[in-house]
Amino acid sequence: MNVNGTHTRTIWLHPSNPAIVQIIDQRALPHKWVIEDLTCVEEVATAIREMHVRGAGLIGATAGYGMYLATLEAKNESLESLRSAGESLKATRPTAVNLAWAVDRQLAAVSSCSSLEEIRATAKKTAQTIADEDAEACRKIGEHGVELIRKIAEKKPGTPVHVLTHCNAGWLAFVDYGSATAPIYAAHDSGTPVHVWVDETRPRSQGAKLTAWELGQHGVPHTLIADNTGGHLMQHGQVDLVIVGTDRTTRSGDVANKIGTYLKALAAKDNGVPFFVALPSSSFDWKMKDGIKEIPIEERGSEEVKYADGLCDGILREVLVAPSNTPAANYGFDVTPARLISGLITERGICEANEASITALFPDLAG
Ligand code: MRU
Repeated sequence: MNVNGTHTRTIWLHPSNPAIVQIIDQRALPHKWVIEDLTCVEEVATAIREMHVRGAGLIGATAGYGMYLATLEAKNESLESLRSAGESLKATRPTAVNLAWAVDRQLAAVSSCSSLEEIRATAKKTAQTIADEDAEACRKIGEHGVELIRKIAEKKPGTPVHVLTHCNAGWLAFVDYGSATAPIYAAHDSGTPVHVWVDETRPRSQGAKLTAWELGQHGVPHTLIADNTGGHLMQHGQVDLVIVGTDRTTRSGDVANKIGTYLKALAAKDNGVPFFVALPSSSFDWKMKDGIKEIPIEERGSEEVKYADGLCDGILREVLVAPSNTPAANYGFDVTPARLISGLITERGICEANEASITALFPDLAG
């Protein structure tokens, strides 16, 4: 994706010091562009836990690089310290399955290495491969998903296709392109007029802060809306298509995504609006079948609900919105049952949200 006109990824190795991983500190966006250096596993764990980086794909890629940094910290070729680094990374955020997937992939990759040098070289290569694959999967999601937008565009020539999205399943949530945004960028880049309704996505406002910013950087027309607006827009024919991302999708097609996604899916069903979920295969949890019963839902601090933050006189500030002694609950994600989902847009194509269709597309991964 373009930032100030230059193609940029969300994570990379320092160009002159490969022992440093560089990320964009997303807490400062959209107001400040801050690049952060990560030099050890502990800093990587903090960056994931405190959401300097966030979004399923980017969490996975960051964990991959974190395991590479763990090999630089290792004193010998025993895998014990790497396993323990992996456990500490896995414990940072529970819902996005990409995190555990990347850690386990690194541990499997280094398991047959016989020297520390080989372990380090393998972990570095694997981290880069995870990042490259994430970017490529998202690019392909764009190629497949853009057909949905084009088909709608053919039926309403001269007017933009209105896509609603929730949270940030964009470039910033992955290494490049994004999942939900990839078809949107592909449509925009190829001249299909598209306009995006951006849910603000309280409490952390990833839609208002991140999705609105990245769509703006890429020149995609968009409108920010308060979280509860989607149903009204759908009732009035102003949403042609919903595309969201996911942090974990079961083999039966149940989708965990940012809190509030389920309500959008219900409204979409009630109004006959197609509701699609875009994901790379790294976001499938092949072991889980019942999303509501099995997917762990992250609960975060109540202060995120009670406070809002933003730019004030050039300084990033937090303000208390609710009464200071009001108890608040902060569930990070909800699960949208497969029956409410029109289809899954993956790097291999679009399938239905059910076990037969998913496993037919991914027989090698589904087991
Ligand atoms: O809590 P976050 O910001 O890490 O949540 C991730 C998300 O932005 C969404 O749930 C997203 O739609 C799926 S991640 C590709």
